Amino acid sequence: MTRFTDKPITGAGIGLRSRHYQEILDTKPSIPWFEVLSENYFGVGGLPIYHLERVRELYPVTLHGVGMSLGSADPLNFDYLARLKKLAEQIEPTYISDHLAWISIDGRHVHDLLPLPYTEETLAHFADCVLQVQDFLGCRLLIENPSSYMGYKEVDMTEWEFIAELVKRADCDLLFDVNNVYVSGQNHGFDPYEYLHSLPEGRVREIHLAGYEEQNNYLFDTHGYRVHPPVWELYRETIKHLGPVPTLIEWDNDIPEFEVLVDEANKAQKVMSDREAAA
Ligand SMILES: [Fe+2]
Repeated sequence: MTRFTDKPITGAGIGLRSRHYQEILDTKPSIPWFEVLSENYFGVGGLPIYHLERVRELYPVTLHGVGMSLGSADPLNFDYLARLKKLAEQIEPTYISDHLAWISIDGRHVHDLLPLPYTEETLAHFADCVLQVQDFLGCRLLIENPSSYMGYKEVDMTEWEFIAELVKRADCDLLFDVNNVYVSGQNHGFDPYEYLHSLPEGRVREIHLAGYEEQNNYLFDTHGYRVHPPVWELYRETIKHLGPVPTLIEWDNDIPEFEVLVDEANKAQKVMSDREAAA
């Protein structure tokens, strides 16, 4: 399936946020790639897209979204998808990703990425939606595992079994969020290492790392902290198992100075470099 660009991404990238636009354009840091939140650039013209185009002239970019609602029983939103396709034609991203989740029902939207009941019925529906979107966009999607705080009683399979089957049916690729799988594992009582070792071979094209927040009896995925030690440990095992898959530092709340993100990216880069040196 064609892509929007052949420009590959490697190493540890950073999520592009507006407060860092000018610093990045002025200093041209040696960050290998950036990821942007697609929906932030759906407007016509304006400063955000101006800055993104300048950044794209210097770096490969990936598009990451939260709005496809691929798991919803609502029809796919082709207006949303047309805007995404237009942005992709303009920016030529290396990858386009969204989540194993749903955000709308009966046309009403919620502001959370909600998990699916992992049943045969939802698998068939989700795979069909991914196939339709890939056809429309003309590229493979990367589907990201969500962090979750609730589950369903009526399920036919685990999340990792659902993902493995989804890849077979929809021929999509994966974005493996190491923080999300750790957070969900703690919240639901499953082993994130078992999840990792069940991922379909050769399908994880990108990894996410972020920081969670500890609540009284659960972990909350806020993307507002440095990556926590147990997530770094799981990440080291991930890179050992999958190889040096391009990795993104995600930070969406209380966004720090750019140098803090660079420091986190350097840590991820070191894990990948150590793995390559040991191979
Ligand atoms: Fe993520």
